Amino acid sequence: MNGVLHQAEQALARQTRCRYAVLTGNGTTALWAALAALDLPDGSAVLYPVLTCETAVNAAIMAGLKPTFCDVQPATAAPTAADLVLAATRSQARAVVPTHLFGHRAASLPLTPACPAIMDAAQTSGRPEHLMGGRAAILSFGPGKQRDLGGGGAVLTNDPDLAATCRGLLAGLALNPDLAASARRNLMVALVDLGRSIEPGSVDFARQRASLVHQHRIGYLEPADETMPLRLMDHLSHPDSTNHRRLAMTHFLEDALRLIPRVGLLARHPDDAPWRFTFQVPIRRDAVTAALRAIGLRPTRLFAPQNALAGQPDSDFPGAMALANSLVNLEFIQLGDNPTATCKQVATTIARALAQESVA
Ligand SMILES: Cc1ncc(COP(=O)(O)O)c(C=O)c1O
Repeated sequence: MNGVLHQAEQALARQTRCRYAVLTGNGTTALWAALAALDLPDGSAVLYPVLTCETAVNAAIMAGLKPTFCDVQPATAAPTAADLVLAATRSQARAVVPTHLFGHRAASLPLTPACPAIMDAAQTSGRPEHLMGGRAAILSFGPGKQRDLGGGGAVLTNDPDLAATCRGLLAGLALNPDLAASARRNLMVALVDLGRSIEPGSVDFARQRASLVHQHRIGYLEPADETMPLRLMDHLSHPDSTNHRRLAMTHFLEDALRLIPRVGLLARHPDDAPWRFTFQVPIRRDAVTAALRAIGLRPTRLFAPQNALAGQPDSDFPGAMALANSLVNLEFIQLGDNPTATCKQVATTIARALAQESVA
């Protein structure tokens, strides 16, 4: 094995207290490799929380598996362990992907050989606590992530067979670019079919369909490139200040928003900075989004409800639907060089938008 790659994988494994780390080109590829390494029969159901990143769901499709979804609790935007167990039983899931989202730590399933968990820790800094409860966990080093290396990802596991199978899959990707191209083609076919199968008239139809069709821009499989191990070694050699800086900004924003009546903050682990800052507004999200745009910020939509992929109606996910229209999603990167001033401005803008809406 390439010496630097081996060194970087060992350093990451040491820091995350796992026996094996396998580097990949991005978090999606890491999840694809970990799911494919489970060697489940084609079309087996894999359970995800209904609010998650589209590319995480694409990973299951590219591995020949069928994504299926579990509702989330409105207070945390995540399912509880009991929600996961119930949904996994109902959908006969053969694997589960508990997902740490927006600083909330995901609950996992009690580990059983019949239904292993792959922890999606893409939005975390990869502390040992984020990785527990799964046969493997995945990290992302993509732009804006806690460990932003401009790209990259990793599978972390204590299971030597799973690590070896992931390495084999990644070597296959590196040797044969057609593999990635054909996985991507299959993904597109699946997405277009699924897009067609959504009933027109569903509330979110237009948005969901547009999101499904545009996913070709983000569904990708890539092995780690040559520079990634070097970037990772450099990153691991100095203490990670990003998480601290983000946590400080998070506290500041939360304190400012707490002063505004009716703005909701999702429950978050006190030690975990969210990847993106997400909060709930009691009025149409569009009004708040427009007000924030006017001061130069670009809040993005939250990940589209993924239930369309499973052909499950919106009504099966009342928790996610309660959140879907009220969540505003800000990227830290947009808070600029003077985040304290920008946070104040964000809070004032939201307070004003809410006041105007209640007058109107
Ligand atoms: C929860 C989650 N899983 C997986 C991914 C995919 O990671 P990557 O963009 O590195 O492929 C992301 C990316 O945002 C994510 O938020």
